[in-house]
Amino acid sequence: MAVALRPVVADDSPRLLAWRNSPDVRAFMYTDHVIAPDEHARWFAAAVIDPTRRYWIIEADGQGVGLANLYDIDTADRRATWAYYIADPSQRGRGVGAMAEFQVIEQAFGALGLARLACEVLETNPAVIKLHKRFGFVETTRLVGRATKDGQPVDAIGLELTADAWAEAEPAMTERLRGMGFPL
Ligand SMILES: CC(C)(COP(=O)(O)OP(=O)(O)OC[C@H]1O[C@@H](n2cnc3c(N)ncnc32)[C@H](O)[C@@H]1OP(=O)(O)O)[C@@H](O)C(=O)NCCC(=O)NCCS
Repeated sequence: MAVALRPVVADDSPRLLAWRNSPDVRAFMYTDHVIAPDEHARWFAAAVIDPTRRYWIIEADGQGVGLANLYDIDTADRRATWAYYIADPSQRGRGVGAMAEFQVIEQAFGALGLARLACEVLETNPAVIKLHKRFGFVETTRLVGRATKDGQPVDAIGLELTADAWAEAEPAMTERLRGMGFPL
């Protein structure tokens, strides 16, 4: 299977709203109300021109399956935060997320020249925390009550990957992904 990141374009907007509002994605986001088309349109228009953000469609064998993004890109401080999802649960667990993570990291430390990459994961999502740690991310913070889920506060875990830690983790991750059949 080929996994690629391609920049989001205007035509992706309706699909992104559908993905973001699906229960399978909403459950993992900080806000889980159903987003109305006008709220989405405002978000999308701002997102695609914001120099501190970057959005990619995750493609598996040429089909869009999810979204990856960098935000709070600070080129002076050489840091950014990132997030992603695979929209359709039937597409999860096949390594697409790991391959997308690999490529986001390579973009961050390669083309963008960053030195640190952060992310936040709800503590109710331990599989993803484990996945990030395999790439060299380490826990840096606990964000108490970061989200509200079903009316209850939920903490998030902040993680960070440095370019140096990635240089150490990269060979093993490349081997692992190759072993799963990905061309790297
Ligand atoms: C997180 C996500 C993008 C990972 O993509 P994916 O294609 O499912 O990930 P992979 O197939 O590469 O799996 C990577 C590892 O994570 C594990 N994993 C990922 N999601 C998991 C889950 N929900 N339950 C159990 N394990 C999970 C896999 O078992 C695998 O571990 P392994 O290599 O030890 O087998 C995807 O599961 C997703 O969209 N989840 C919902 C949204 C989300 O949680 N986004 C992250 C918010 S910070």
